[in-house]
Amino acid sequence: IIRSFSQLSSQSTPDAFGIAFDIDGVVLRSEAPIGGSPRAFRRLYDDSGNLRIPYVFLTNGGGFSESKRALELSSLLGVKISPLQVLQGHTPFKQLVNRFENELIVAVGKGEPAAVMAEYGFKNVLSIDEYASCFENIDPLAPYKKWITKQVADQYSTVKAVAAKDLVLSQRVQAAFVVSDSVDWSRDIQVLCDILRTGGLPGRGIGHQPQLYFAHDDLAYQAAFPSERFGMGAFRIALESIFNRIHPHALEYTTFGKPNPFVFKNAELVLKQLVLSLQDKVQVLNPANASHNFKTLYMIGDNPAVDINGARQAGHPWFSILTRTGVFKGKENHAEFRADLVVDTVEEAVDFILRREC
Ligand code: G3P
Ligand code: MG
Repeated sequence: IIRSFSQLSSQSTPDAFGIAFDIDGVVLRSEAPIGGSPRAFRRLYDDSGNLRIPYVFLTNGGGFSESKRALELSSLLGVKISPLQVLQGHTPFKQLVNRFENELIVAVGKGEPAAVMAEYGFKNVLSIDEYASCFENIDPLAPYKKWITKQVADQYSTVKAVAAKDLVLSQRVQAAFVVSDSVDWSRDIQVLCDILRTGGLPGRGIGHQPQLYFAHDDLAYQAAFPSERFGMGAFRIALESIFNRIHPHALEYTTFGKPNPFVFKNAELVLKQLVLSLQDKVQVLNPANASHNFKTLYMIGDNPAVDINGARQAGHPWFSILTRTGVFKGKENHAEFRADLVVDTVEEAVDFILRREC
């Protein structure tokens, strides 16, 4: 018998449960649904398409705003997903708005990194594409690059370029945010080193290093190719190795994303908020004060060092489920980061949870 979400949550508090889904290697590979994910998600809704099981996406990936990502996931998976349910690697960058609201900052990565930061409230943000284009000859390899990134093609305008150029020449960059995977490692490493070694004004002498933030530190992730692809952690290693050879002080930076336990704590707060907003049909302003407690929160992931390690470090009430559709391809459990359960697919994971809980 499958009870409705409201029955589940009112009858079973504090025995209620929630689910956090990793995306790459669990739900999607590139943009293709995998592991029976559309079927698995449909089971989390009632016949009228209303959510009956509280869940969020907990991905290190990103590059688009939470609202855009929610729309994209809704159309790929065939269910109604709200932006509140989308927690990306860069989502915690919001917390830094007070510090850098009016400072010049640079946003790096695929997709629309500057639009993401602007939506969070940063007022003086340029993408690294826009920033680099203000400096003639900053990338000596540019004449050999026959391509143009989607972001430049979509958003670039002469007016913006002129405004950006004045801004760049008069202000130091106070922070660089690596929002999503770098598209052009050679140009981005060059320009970031220029910013970081000069105190935020490329072409000048050595200065105090501006802040540097990474949305996550994944060495590799599962995309469409059969074996893993280098992730933001690999880019960080490349940037750090080069910076440390050209600068007297080692690179300083902060990384967000899984496996940091605070990411799991935040997911728990958002799930509480989701439960309460669905119960009351009103937005709960301070989820930290909510009295709702989960008995179990399930993390379904494909990366033992990231998803499973993170859930284990977060402790109670997290229960980790490792799938075989992504980074992990072993037969048995992972030797170092042992999951509470290993299954083939996300559909199997959801079956297990619903059998156990309902
Ligand atoms: O770039 C994305 C990747 O590093 C991880 O995504 O969904 O597996 O956390 P995900
Ligand atoms: Mg993954």
